[in-house]
Amino acid sequence: MRPLVVANWKMNGSEPMLRSLVQALGERQNEIAAEVVLALPAPFFSLARALLHSSGITWGGQNIHSLKEGAFTGEISGKMLTEMGGRWSLIGHSERRAFAAETDELVADKVLACLDMGLTPIVCLGEHLEDREQGKTIQVIDRQLQAVMSVVRPEEMKNLVFAYEPIWAIGTGQEATPEMAQAVHHHLKDKMATKGSNCPSILYGGSVKAENVSGLLAMPDIDGVLVGGASLDPEGFAALCVNAGQG
Ligand code: 13P
Repeated sequence: MRPLVVANWKMNGSEPMLRSLVQALGERQNEIAAEVVLALPAPFFSLARALLHSSGITWGGQNIHSLKEGAFTGEISGKMLTEMGGRWSLIGHSERRAFAAETDELVADKVLACLDMGLTPIVCLGEHLEDREQGKTIQVIDRQLQAVMSVVRPEEMKNLVFAYEPIWAIGTGQEATPEMAQAVHHHLKDKMATKGSNCPSILYGGSVKAENVSGLLAMPDIDGVLVGGASLDPEGFAALCVNAGQG
């Protein structure tokens, strides 16, 4: 299977930057074997639709509300994202769990909202540094996974993507080693298999760059990467996508 490379712009970027990114990816199109997805801020959806149609690159959002519509000022729904042509949404990113107080239960509701609209949720899981230091990584990941598995039917689990993003590795330049990430990914796949779930792809996120992507993707259970900071440099991100497809 082709590795999946997802760019998470977070609250960054501009229309000129999106044009540059699409151009940089286009210029190296023949060298990129990975599947590329852009998770963009909502103001850029319309431009993404115009620039990316028939490019082979798909795009999505970084969050949706759990409901289709209503009096929720400032929110966007999966219905709106789908209507704009988006195919994916990040769900439960650690920044939203921290700044928007998203609970495991709310994350599970948003996963259902994505599936209902035909969007692929990219469900983010990950432990704090204290959790890891106290040997609680698996306990935290299992709790986050269980909340999703308790609402999604086993045969539907293949329609999700998970992203393991250790919080201590996000934006710090301190990525998990390929072996550390592999151990968690393997655990997640094992857990889903023993519960009779069809296994979805699992991405690794946290300080991924052009230089370390191949080592991470060489691991048997790392199916792709979720890239924050390094997706903001068009040439650098294009190089990362090229490297991701080699190996
Ligand atoms: P960085 O790649 O900047 O560490 O961010 C990772 C991330 O949070 C992607 O969702």
